[in-house]
Amino acid sequence: MRLDKLLSNLQYGSRSIVKQLIKEKRVFVNNVLAKDSAMDVFPGKDVVVIDGQMVYYKDPIHLIVNKPVGYGSTHVNEAHPSVMSLLLEPYSRFEFNMAGRLDWDTEGLLLLSTDGNLIHRIISPKKQVYKTYLATLLHPISDYSSLLEGVEILDGENKPFRTKPAKINVLDEFHVEISISEGKFHQVKRMFEVIANEVIALKRISIGNLFLPDDLPIGSYQELSEQDIEKIFENQEN
Ligand code: URA
Repeated sequence: MRLDKLLSNLQYGSRSIVKQLIKEKRVFVNNVLAKDSAMDVFPGKDVVVIDGQMVYYKDPIHLIVNKPVGYGSTHVNEAHPSVMSLLLEPYSRFEFNMAGRLDWDTEGLLLLSTDGNLIHRIISPKKQVYKTYLATLLHPISDYSSLLEGVEILDGENKPFRTKPAKINVLDEFHVEISISEGKFHQVKRMFEVIANEVIALKRISIGNLFLPDDLPIGSYQELSEQDIEKIFENQEN
């Protein structure tokens, strides 16, 4: 990749600003002063340093975040700060996308990746990757057989939507694990409304076979390896 492309991708500035940085003798590649902004660098192999600081670059790069309640999962700050605002350097420099949003009042596993195909594989209902949530209910769980078959809810545009069969694991009368392969707006909350219940707390605990680690504190994140990512698709139906 061209040096100026690499650095502008990482938000060090436009290509002309990067050119200027090079002119000002602030950029080194493998300990040698960079002279040409068009020079090729191999991320992961060549060491690029700006103002004495090593540039961290990986493509693709994936993060698992333990999202706290109170953060939105859109990029722009609306009523709640974006979960993206939790990211510090060097991760704040990457352009991540989310594999399935969470409501501001839902916590737990959020996967960020720069790999658009991966995100598509995870969120496409056709691929049948189950996302599992721990739902805390207002009322004791009663007959939930309709959720196992599929129920009609409204989607994000208030259009009727028939859910695919969910998997349910009742932990106790107020706590249920529910796995769904789709991700419509407020889907889990709306599914429990259909059976006259209400979700009062929601946490995503897994995507496919990738689980939120017990030792990842709320509000923290860590990088995932390609092997971790493969776990998502292990033992899924597709
Ligand atoms: N279902 C919901 O209702 N909310 C979420 O954040 C995720 C799934």
